[in-house]
Amino acid sequence: MTGRAMDGEGAARRVLVAAALFVASAAGAAADEAQVQRGAYLFAAADCVGCHTDVKSKGAPLAGGRPLATPFGTFYSPNITPDKATGIGNWSLADFRRALREGISPDGYYYFPVFPFTSFTKMTDEDIADLFAFLQTQKPVAQPSKPHDVNPPFSWRFTLAGWRMPFFKQGPLEPDAGRDAAWNRGRYLAEAVAHCGECHTPRNVLGALEQSRAYSGDPKGPDGQSTPNITPDFRTGIGNWTVADITKVLKTGETPDFDEVGHGMAEVVKGTAQLTDDDRTAIATYLKSLPPVSTPKKPAA
Ligand code: HEC
Ligand code: HEC
Repeated sequence: MTGRAMDGEGAARRVLVAAALFVASAAGAAADEAQVQRGAYLFAAADCVGCHTDVKSKGAPLAGGRPLATPFGTFYSPNITPDKATGIGNWSLADFRRALREGISPDGYYYFPVFPFTSFTKMTDEDIADLFAFLQTQKPVAQPSKPHDVNPPFSWRFTLAGWRMPFFKQGPLEPDAGRDAAWNRGRYLAEAVAHCGECHTPRNVLGALEQSRAYSGDPKGPDGQSTPNITPDFRTGIGNWTVADITKVLKTGETPDFDEVGHGMAEVVKGTAQLTDDDRTAIATYLKSLPPVSTPKKPAA
């Protein structure tokens, strides 16, 4: 495991958010500041910046180009700054909603599920609109998006039509009336926004999440890392972690045995560290309520 320092990148994220709020207030009536602020919060929870910024090559925030290694090849995140020529500056809210809700581009092509629209589809219309308002306050960067380095047949977008039928359930998450508000909030954050399952749920040979083993860890997680079982199974999961333990890891990255989470989780924590305590507790409460799944062996993280 690697330690996580409060590095410049974390500080840069906070500056990014603060700058957006300043631009929004300076623009006055043009942008609804409260909406931009709500969007900034969701943006942190969803870690959009982690995937859409090529930190290793010192790329500009949200200008894309970050390589995402998968068993099918390497994908490169696109530029989602408001640049009109190379980013999403010409997009309408309807275009943006279609991308997140349906996984379809303004030109009508299907997105690869490496873009977690399979989770974002569960967001409410209001949250999608807030995110869009926030993104529009970001600095436009002119940088053409890189083509993916993926071989056929996986590079053929039309084959995704077949993939989507069994594996993609479109539409906002319906609250469970049998559970309280905190549980429903936790489920919404985990499933729709923070997309915890996109890394912690194993995938089948076609790259789709195996929901029958949800959150039980993925030996072939993003960037070739294995992710741990976070179901409440005592032997192979985190059954002996309390709600407070989970809340703490989401705030500070620190585990109950005084280790620090590394790899992709360190990036996730930069976002969840910015949430309210209530929201982190809600996510933890939801995790504790999951059915425990026993895995053959605790995957080495
Ligand atoms: C796990 C990495 C990952 C995360 C997290 C992620 N994205 Fe992406 N996103 C991608 C990739 C990869 C693509 C390109 C998909 C394709 O080419 O089919 C993409 C595509 C997009 C597009 C389409 C851009 C275009 O030019 O067509 C938008 C808009 C977008 N993402 C916005 C977001 C927002 C907003 C968030 C946070 C709520 C987010 N993304 C989180 C990886 C990610
Ligand atoms: C980008 C992929 C990714 C996402 C998204 C993600 N995780 Fe993780 N998570 C990991 C990895 C990788 C590790 C192992 C960290 C390490 O190696 O130190 C981990 C570790 C953990 C651990 C520690 C488990 C242990 O046994 O030490 C918990 C708890 C956890 N994640 C919860 C969550 C929750 C809750 C979410 C959603 C808010 C989430 N994760 C989203 C990749 C991810």
